Amino acid sequence: MGTMDGRVALITGGASGLGAEDARVLAREGARVVITDVQDDLGAQVAASIPGCRYLHHDVRDEARWQAVVSETLTDFGRLDVLVNNAGLVRFGTVEDLSYADYKLQVDVMLDGAFLGCKTVIPHMSRGGTGAIVNMASVAGLKGISAIPAYAAAKGGLIAMTRSIAIHCREQGYGIRVNSIAPGSIVTPMTAQALAQLPADDPGLTQTMGHGMGQPSDIAEMVLYLVSDRGRHITGSNIVIDNGETIA
Ligand SMILES: NC(=O)c1ccc[n+]([C@@H]2O[C@H](COP(=O)([O-])OP(=O)(O)OC[C@H]3O[C@@H](n4cnc5c(N)ncnc54)[C@H](O)[C@@H]3O)[C@@H](O)[C@H]2O)c1
Repeated sequence: MGTMDGRVALITGGASGLGAEDARVLAREGARVVITDVQDDLGAQVAASIPGCRYLHHDVRDEARWQAVVSETLTDFGRLDVLVNNAGLVRFGTVEDLSYADYKLQVDVMLDGAFLGCKTVIPHMSRGGTGAIVNMASVAGLKGISAIPAYAAAKGGLIAMTRSIAIHCREQGYGIRVNSIAPGSIVTPMTAQALAQLPADDPGLTQTMGHGMGQPSDIAEMVLYLVSDRGRHITGSNIVIDNGETIA
Protein backbone atom coordinates (compact mmCIF):
# COMPACT_ATOMS: atom_id res chain seq x y z
CA MET A 1 0.00 0.00 0.00
CA GLY A 2 1.33 3.45 -0.94
CA THR A 3 0.59 6.55 1.08
CA MET A 4 -1.13 8.11 -1.97
CA ASP A 5 -3.19 5.11 -3.08
CA GLY A 6 -6.47 6.21 -4.67
CA ARG A 7 -5.51 9.86 -4.89
CA VAL A 8 -5.21 12.01 -7.99
CA ALA A 9 -2.61 14.77 -8.35
CA LEU A 10 -2.26 17.58 -10.87
CA ILE A 11 1.26 19.02 -11.29
CA THR A 12 2.00 22.05 -13.46
CA GLY A 13 5.37 22.39 -15.15
CA GLY A 14 5.64 18.61 -14.91
CA ALA A 15 7.69 18.09 -18.07
CA SER A 16 10.98 18.93 -16.40
CA GLY A 17 12.99 19.26 -13.22
CA LEU A 18 11.12 19.42 -9.93
CA GLY A 19 7.66 18.86 -11.43
CA ALA A 20 8.73 15.65 -13.17
CA GLU A 21 10.32 14.37 -9.96
CA ASP A 22 7.20 15.26 -7.94
CA ALA A 23 5.21 13.19 -10.44
CA ARG A 24 7.57 10.21 -10.08
CA VAL A 25 7.47 10.32 -6.27
CA LEU A 26 3.69 10.72 -5.97
CA ALA A 27 3.14 7.93 -8.52
CA ARG A 28 5.60 5.71 -6.62
CA GLU A 29 3.31 6.13 -3.60
CA GLY A 30 0.24 5.10 -5.58
CA ALA A 31 -1.17 8.41 -6.86
CA ARG A 32 -2.50 8.77 -10.37
CA VAL A 33 -0.83 11.88 -11.73
CA VAL A 34 -1.67 14.42 -14.43
CA ILE A 35 1.27 16.57 -15.47
CA THR A 36 0.80 19.71 -17.53
CA ASP A 37 3.28 21.95 -19.29
CA VAL A 38 3.97 23.94 -22.45
CA GLN A 39 6.80 21.57 -23.51
CA ASP A 40 4.61 18.94 -25.13
CA ASP A 41 7.18 16.45 -26.40
CA LEU A 42 9.04 16.39 -23.11
CA GLY A 43 5.79 16.23 -21.12
CA ALA A 44 4.57 13.26 -23.14
CA GLN A 45 7.92 11.49 -22.62
CA VAL A 46 7.84 12.03 -18.87
CA ALA A 47 4.22 10.84 -18.66
CA ALA A 48 5.05 7.71 -20.67
CA SER A 49 7.81 6.85 -18.19
CA ILE A 50 5.51 7.00 -15.15
CA PRO A 51 2.79 4.35 -14.63
CA GLY A 52 -0.72 5.84 -14.71
CA CYS A 53 0.53 9.31 -15.61
CA ARG A 54 -1.18 11.53 -18.19
CA TYR A 55 0.17 14.65 -19.93
CA LEU A 56 -1.94 17.67 -20.93
CA HIS A 57 -0.85 20.87 -22.69
CA HIS A 58 -1.43 23.80 -20.37
CA ASP A 59 -0.09 27.31 -20.17
CA VAL A 60 -0.80 28.21 -16.54
CA ARG A 61 -1.56 31.83 -17.54
CA ASP A 62 -4.64 30.65 -19.43
CA GLU A 63 -7.70 30.67 -17.15
CA ALA A 64 -9.96 28.89 -19.64
CA ARG A 65 -7.38 26.13 -20.05
CA TRP A 66 -7.28 25.69 -16.26
CA GLN A 67 -11.01 24.91 -16.34
CA ALA A 68 -10.50 22.45 -19.21
CA VAL A 69 -7.54 20.68 -17.55
CA VAL A 70 -9.39 20.22 -14.26
CA SER A 71 -12.52 19.10 -16.07
CA GLU A 72 -10.54 16.53 -18.13
CA THR A 73 -8.83 15.28 -14.98
CA LEU A 74 -12.16 14.82 -13.20
CA THR A 75 -13.66 13.08 -16.24
CA ASP A 76 -10.72 10.70 -16.60
CA PHE A 77 -9.91 10.01 -12.95
CA GLY A 78 -13.11 10.95 -11.10
CA ARG A 79 -11.47 13.08 -8.43
CA LEU A 80 -8.74 15.62 -7.71
CA ASP A 81 -6.91 15.52 -4.38
CA VAL A 82 -3.65 17.37 -4.97
CA LEU A 83 -2.47 20.41 -6.91
CA VAL A 84 1.21 21.32 -7.17
CA ASN A 85 1.62 24.81 -8.66
CA ASN A 86 5.16 24.22 -9.87
CA ALA A 87 5.46 25.80 -13.36
CA GLY A 88 8.13 28.46 -13.47
CA LEU A 89 10.90 30.18 -15.33
CA VAL A 90 13.59 32.71 -14.63
CA ARG A 91 14.80 35.76 -16.53
CA PHE A 92 17.96 37.38 -15.19
CA GLY A 93 18.38 41.16 -15.05
CA THR A 94 18.57 43.82 -12.36
CA VAL A 95 15.81 46.39 -11.98
CA GLU A 96 17.76 48.51 -14.45
CA ASP A 97 18.30 45.79 -17.05
CA LEU A 98 15.17 43.65 -16.93
CA SER A 99 12.50 44.54 -19.47
CA TYR A 100 8.96 45.09 -18.22
CA ALA A 101 7.86 42.26 -20.52
CA ASP A 102 10.22 39.84 -18.74
CA TYR A 103 9.09 41.16 -15.36
CA LYS A 104 5.45 40.51 -16.34
CA LEU A 105 6.21 37.09 -17.77
CA GLN A 106 7.68 35.82 -14.51
CA VAL A 107 4.92 37.28 -12.32
CA ASP A 108 2.21 36.06 -14.71
CA VAL A 109 3.50 32.48 -14.77
CA MET A 110 4.54 31.98 -11.15
CA LEU A 111 2.11 34.19 -9.21
CA ASP A 112 -0.94 34.67 -11.42
CA GLY A 113 -0.66 31.08 -12.68
CA ALA A 114 -0.73 29.74 -9.13
CA PHE A 115 -3.66 32.03 -8.25
CA LEU A 116 -5.63 30.66 -11.20
CA GLY A 117 -4.75 27.12 -10.16
CA CYS A 118 -5.97 27.59 -6.59
CA LYS A 119 -9.07 29.44 -7.78
CA THR A 120 -9.96 26.65 -10.21
CA VAL A 121 -9.39 23.58 -8.04
CA ILE A 122 -10.68 24.75 -4.65
CA PRO A 123 -14.39 24.56 -5.57
CA HIS A 124 -13.91 20.96 -6.75
CA MET A 125 -11.76 19.89 -3.80
CA SER A 126 -14.11 21.52 -1.30
CA ARG A 127 -17.02 19.44 -2.57
CA GLY A 128 -15.02 16.34 -1.65
CA GLY A 129 -14.16 17.84 1.76
CA THR A 130 -10.44 17.26 1.32
CA GLY A 131 -7.46 18.41 -0.69
CA ALA A 132 -3.87 19.61 -0.56
CA ILE A 133 -2.15 22.33 -2.56
CA VAL A 134 1.58 22.98 -2.70
CA ASN A 135 2.87 26.19 -4.27
CA MET A 136 6.50 26.02 -5.39
CA ALA A 137 8.09 29.22 -4.08
CA SER A 138 11.82 29.87 -3.60
CA VAL A 139 14.30 31.30 -1.16
CA ALA A 140 14.25 34.23 -3.60
CA GLY A 141 10.89 35.08 -2.04
CA LEU A 142 12.53 35.38 1.38
CA LYS A 143 15.70 37.34 0.65
CA GLY A 144 16.90 39.90 -1.84
CA ILE A 145 18.71 38.75 -4.99
CA SER A 146 19.73 41.70 -7.15
CA ALA A 147 19.80 39.74 -10.42
CA ILE A 148 16.25 38.38 -10.25
CA PRO A 149 13.91 41.07 -8.84
CA ALA A 150 10.80 39.89 -10.69
CA TYR A 151 11.38 36.22 -9.85
CA ALA A 152 11.81 37.26 -6.20
CA ALA A 153 8.63 39.33 -6.33
CA ALA A 154 6.64 36.45 -7.79
CA LYS A 155 7.92 34.00 -5.17
CA GLY A 156 7.51 36.39 -2.24
CA GLY A 157 3.97 37.07 -3.41
CA LEU A 158 3.35 33.36 -3.73
CA ILE A 159 4.38 32.73 -0.12
CA ALA A 160 2.06 35.51 1.10
CA MET A 161 -0.79 34.33 -1.13
CA THR A 162 -0.40 30.77 0.12
CA ARG A 163 -0.99 31.87 3.71
CA SER A 164 -4.07 33.89 2.75
CA ILE A 165 -5.62 31.05 0.76
CA ALA A 166 -4.85 28.58 3.57
CA ILE A 167 -6.72 30.79 6.03
CA HIS A 168 -9.66 31.08 3.64
CA CYS A 169 -9.89 27.31 3.27
CA ARG A 170 -9.78 26.87 7.05
CA GLU A 171 -12.40 29.59 7.62
CA GLN A 172 -14.70 27.86 5.14
CA GLY A 173 -14.11 24.43 6.68
CA TYR A 174 -13.11 23.00 3.29
CA GLY A 175 -10.59 20.46 4.57
CA ILE A 176 -8.07 21.79 2.05
CA ARG A 177 -4.49 22.42 3.20
CA VAL A 178 -2.38 24.96 1.32
CA ASN A 179 1.39 25.24 1.79
CA SER A 180 4.42 26.49 -0.07
CA ILE A 181 7.97 25.16 -0.38
CA ALA A 182 10.94 27.49 -0.75
CA PRO A 183 13.86 25.57 -2.27
CA GLY A 184 17.37 26.90 -2.49
CA SER A 185 19.34 25.89 -5.57
CA ILE A 186 18.42 22.46 -6.92
CA VAL A 187 19.98 20.62 -9.86
CA THR A 188 17.41 21.00 -12.68
CA PRO A 189 17.38 22.30 -16.28
CA MET A 190 16.51 25.75 -14.89
CA THR A 191 19.71 25.99 -12.86
CA ALA A 192 21.76 24.33 -15.62
CA GLN A 193 20.55 27.06 -17.98
CA ALA A 194 21.56 29.76 -15.50
CA LEU A 195 25.01 28.22 -15.02
CA ALA A 196 25.49 28.01 -18.78
CA GLN A 197 24.35 31.58 -19.44
CA LEU A 198 26.01 33.55 -16.68
CA PRO A 199 29.65 34.21 -15.75
CA ALA A 200 30.76 32.40 -12.60
CA ASP A 201 30.96 35.66 -10.62
CA ASP A 202 27.48 36.86 -11.65
CA PRO A 203 25.55 38.06 -8.59
CA GLY A 204 22.61 35.87 -9.59
CA LEU A 205 24.82 32.83 -9.16
CA THR A 206 26.87 33.85 -6.16
CA GLN A 207 23.79 34.97 -4.22
CA THR A 208 21.84 31.77 -4.94
CA MET A 209 24.19 28.89 -5.62
CA GLY A 210 26.89 29.46 -3.06
CA HIS A 211 25.29 27.07 -0.58
CA GLY A 212 25.48 23.82 -2.49
CA MET A 213 22.94 22.31 -4.84
CA GLY A 214 20.15 19.99 -3.76
CA GLN A 215 18.54 17.21 -5.78
CA PRO A 216 14.94 17.24 -7.10
CA SER A 217 14.11 14.38 -4.72
CA ASP A 218 14.95 16.67 -1.76
CA ILE A 219 11.94 18.73 -2.79
CA ALA A 220 9.67 15.95 -4.09
CA GLU A 221 9.83 14.00 -0.80
CA MET A 222 8.61 17.15 1.01
CA VAL A 223 5.82 17.58 -1.53
CA LEU A 224 4.81 14.00 -0.75
CA TYR A 225 4.90 14.67 3.00
CA LEU A 226 2.77 17.81 2.68
CA VAL A 227 0.10 16.32 0.41
CA SER A 228 -0.15 12.94 2.14
CA ASP A 229 -1.81 12.28 5.49
CA ARG A 230 1.58 12.72 7.17
CA GLY A 231 1.18 16.46 6.61
CA ARG A 232 -2.36 16.58 7.96
CA HIS A 233 -1.57 19.19 10.63
CA ILE A 234 0.33 21.54 8.30
CA THR A 235 -1.38 24.39 6.47
CA GLY A 236 -0.34 27.94 5.63
CA SER A 237 3.32 27.02 6.10
CA ASN A 238 6.30 27.81 3.95
CA ILE A 239 8.83 24.97 4.18
CA VAL A 240 12.37 26.15 3.47
CA ILE A 241 14.72 23.54 1.93
CA ASP A 242 17.93 25.42 1.26
CA ASN A 243 20.87 23.85 3.10
CA GLY A 244 20.92 26.89 5.38
CA GLU A 245 21.04 29.54 2.67
CA THR A 246 18.58 31.85 4.45
CA ILE A 247 19.69 31.42 8.06
CA ALA A 248 22.31 34.14 7.94
N1 LIG B 1 15.75 24.56 -9.54
C1 LIG B 1 15.86 25.41 -8.51
O1 LIG B 1 16.97 25.66 -8.02
C2 LIG B 1 14.64 26.06 -7.94
C3 LIG B 1 14.78 26.74 -6.73
C4 LIG B 1 13.68 27.36 -6.17
C5 LIG B 1 12.45 27.28 -6.80
N2 LIG B 1 12.33 26.62 -7.98
C6 LIG B 1 11.01 26.58 -8.61
O2 LIG B 1 10.64 25.25 -8.87
C7 LIG B 1 9.77 25.20 -10.00
C8 LIG B 1 10.30 24.20 -11.00
O3 LIG B 1 11.57 24.66 -11.46
P1 LIG B 1 12.66 23.70 -12.12
O4 LIG B 1 13.95 24.04 -11.53
O5 LIG B 1 12.18 22.29 -12.09
O6 LIG B 1 12.67 24.30 -13.60
P2 LIG B 1 12.48 23.60 -15.02
O7 LIG B 1 12.80 24.65 -16.01
O8 LIG B 1 13.22 22.32 -15.08
O9 LIG B 1 10.92 23.26 -15.05
C9 LIG B 1 9.95 24.26 -15.09
C10 LIG B 1 8.84 23.83 -16.02
O10 LIG B 1 7.83 24.84 -16.03
C11 LIG B 1 7.35 24.94 -17.36
N3 LIG B 1 6.71 26.21 -17.65
C12 LIG B 1 7.30 27.42 -17.84
N4 LIG B 1 6.36 28.33 -18.16
C13 LIG B 1 5.17 27.70 -18.14
C14 LIG B 1 3.83 28.10 -18.40
N5 LIG B 1 3.52 29.37 -18.74
N6 LIG B 1 2.84 27.19 -18.28
C15 LIG B 1 3.13 25.92 -17.94
N7 LIG B 1 4.37 25.45 -17.72
C16 LIG B 1 5.37 26.35 -17.82
C17 LIG B 1 8.59 24.74 -18.21
O11 LIG B 1 8.25 24.39 -19.55
C18 LIG B 1 9.32 23.65 -17.47
O12 LIG B 1 8.98 22.36 -17.94
C19 LIG B 1 9.71 26.63 -10.55
O13 LIG B 1 8.55 27.27 -10.07
C20 LIG B 1 10.95 27.27 -9.96
O14 LIG B 1 10.82 28.66 -9.85
C21 LIG B 1 13.39 26.01 -8.57
